[in-house]
Amino acid sequence: MAEAEGPKKLYIKTYGCQMNVYDSERMAEALGAEGYVTTDVAEEADMVLLNTCHIREKAAEKVYSDLGRLRPLKAAKPSLKIGVAGCVAQAEGEEILKRMPLVDLVVGPQSYHRLPQMTKAVDAGEKPVDTDFPAEDKFEHLPERPVSSRPTAFLTVQEGCDKFCAFCVVPYTRGAEVSRPVERILREARALVAKGVREITLLGQNVNAYHGEGEDGTWGLARIVRELARIEGLDRIRYTTSHPNDMEEALIAAHGDEPKLMPYLHLPVQSGSDRILKAMNRKHTAEEYIRLVERIRAARPDILLSSDFIVGFPGETDADFEATMDLIREVHFGAAFSFKYSARPGTPAAEKPGVADEVADARLQALQALVTSQQRAAQEAMVGREVRVLFEKAGRLPGQMVGKSDYLHAVHVADPGARVGQIGRVRITESGPNSLGGVLLGA
Ligand code: SAH
Ligand code: SF4
Ligand code: F3S
Repeated sequence: MAEAEGPKKLYIKTYGCQMNVYDSERMAEALGAEGYVTTDVAEEADMVLLNTCHIREKAAEKVYSDLGRLRPLKAAKPSLKIGVAGCVAQAEGEEILKRMPLVDLVVGPQSYHRLPQMTKAVDAGEKPVDTDFPAEDKFEHLPERPVSSRPTAFLTVQEGCDKFCAFCVVPYTRGAEVSRPVERILREARALVAKGVREITLLGQNVNAYHGEGEDGTWGLARIVRELARIEGLDRIRYTTSHPNDMEEALIAAHGDEPKLMPYLHLPVQSGSDRILKAMNRKHTAEEYIRLVERIRAARPDILLSSDFIVGFPGETDADFEATMDLIREVHFGAAFSFKYSARPGTPAAEKPGVADEVADARLQALQALVTSQQRAAQEAMVGREVRVLFEKAGRLPGQMVGKSDYLHAVHVADPGARVGQIGRVRITESGPNSLGGVLLGA
């Protein structure tokens, strides 16, 4: 009897963005109500869920090689259930079962509340595929969130995207933009804080396009931030990912006068060339982005900005690429993610010929060298400064504790007095490749 052997074990592997991280937790909770406990060891699992990403070809193909590697596990334990969730599930649906017969269920990002019922269907010998965009809020049908062992949490407020950038699969895999109602967000935030969470990151594919219904009409993201800031015990608020065109005045103002809103903003620009921005359907110019950054910095001079860049978009010339490098030199980013363009089936850009691979590789290298130098400079500038750090977990070295500064820098201290969940004042003493080191001054 399964009961006699203890609880069933669930192994989840998460690919892609933070929304998938949030969704994986919520799926674990949904299946927790069915008696599953999570494990970090795939070999001991009764169910393996791959929560996948479709954003670039490499990410999507990785899923298939990982599925291939599950074959011996399934052979050793035929009762093992294998599920594919996330954006590859949404984009490829039934095709996954055809290509990988060992898969038992396929569930798209809007149907996670149906997982318990789907696992029962698997027990009955079926192979359910659910890639609907149901009208109900999937989160409403998931159990209340359990006590978190971490002092930080993600909270999805908005999902989907109506922007249709020419390169991007998200509007197809996540569907149209939907904002969760205000009351549900506030309720979830209060519950998280009651359970010890001190920092909440609001998530959305286009988080600053948030426009949720409240009792007195439609709220924007700025108003959500203001309302969350009133929750006692919640000390830090962040949000990601933002589109430049949705950076409303009220949100910029909140960066200026809401101390709980952290001085870090991820604001993807993708390119610094107006021609390429237009071809990407980004609907703003490089100059408009730079002016926007000026307004944000006028409100909060010390804000740390990060961005996403794509190199090798179809038609990108050397001059276009140089315009991107110029924009980076002008703005100065504290961090950046950069990618080589990957043609995605079904997107408008996929029909145009791409840039030669060697050219794209060389551009990516040059761009990464530039942003790395800016990232280092931003870190070096912290040395000697006193920052606040929310400690999240023990570090790799004995006695070490790591956490994040207000600016989202990883900071480690070696101090037996540092506790998880504490916000400490830390004097930064050193800057390493990807983190800062410091000494704890006190609470
Ligand atoms: N909603 C966010 C980003 C979602 S995807 C936004 O609007 O910025 C995260 C990043 O992946 C994008 O910012 C982009 O830089 C990159 N990306 C998306 N599609 C891509 C593609 N086809 N090839 C390469 N990079 C891509
Ligand atoms: Fe993709 Fe553009 Fe939407 Fe971002 S704004 S999710 S890049 S379509
Ligand atoms: Fe990837 Fe889907 Fe997120 S494609 S980046 S997991 S929204």
